[in-house]
Amino acid sequence: MSHAEDNSLSFHKEEQQIEFSGHLLKITTFKGAYLGVSAFVWEPGLVLCRYFENEKINFTGKKMIELGSGTGIVGILAVLLGGDVTLTDRPCVLEQIEYNVSANIPLRCRHRSKVSALAWGTDQDTYPSDFDFILASDVVYSPTQFPDLLRTLLHLCNEKTTIYMCSNMVAREGAINFHQELLPELFNSELIHTYRSNCIYKMTKKQTLARGISF
Ligand SMILES: C[S@@+](CC[C@H](N)C(=O)[O-])C[C@H]1O[C@@H](n2cnc3c(N)ncnc32)[C@H](O)[C@@H]1O
Repeated sequence: MSHAEDNSLSFHKEEQQIEFSGHLLKITTFKGAYLGVSAFVWEPGLVLCRYFENEKINFTGKKMIELGSGTGIVGILAVLLGGDVTLTDRPCVLEQIEYNVSANIPLRCRHRSKVSALAWGTDQDTYPSDFDFILASDVVYSPTQFPDLLRTLLHLCNEKTTIYMCSNMVAREGAINFHQELLPELFNSELIHTYRSNCIYKMTKKQTLARGISF
């Protein structure tokens, strides 16, 4: 049996509901659709959403992009908090994100959301570098991808861009090395919140790099 046939037989949707900032999010994962890690709501995403709620963060008028959206939960909340958000991931994940965008973002604000493919290290040059915020939860787990992830972050940033990144420092291979050794060479990084082994970092591109570097 080919993967395509198997996919149509075993694929099913699972919904979970979580409330943030007064919005009851209904997040569906496509189980059995070969999405791998994308078919889960991961704790770093939840921790980042709860942080936005607790800090009463308002993204009104802000141009934002999310990397490795997975289910889209963080990017969706950012839209509901006023942002103009591009949710990105690998092409195979976009249908799941679009499903959750449709289920959670009312039509009146749907124009502030966009879902599109961004494979790190490959697609970033097709995106602008004028984002106010970059969001990235649980994207630090595969050391072979770290150079591409850094290259992507560098491209999307200008000197005014703020990055919120939440990583599981214990469960994910290389996360400590990424945040404590690799990132600080390129970004100013401040640890702003910890929940269990999840750390939220607020980052900006180093000024010396802001006018373009080769990496
Ligand atoms: C562990 S999941 C986290 C999903 C979501 N951000 C969350 O917190 O629940 C990591 C996500 O990064 C995406 N990803 C991994 N490698 C990628 C790459 N090279 N380019 C783009 N996205 C990638 C995966 O497809 C997946 O959706």
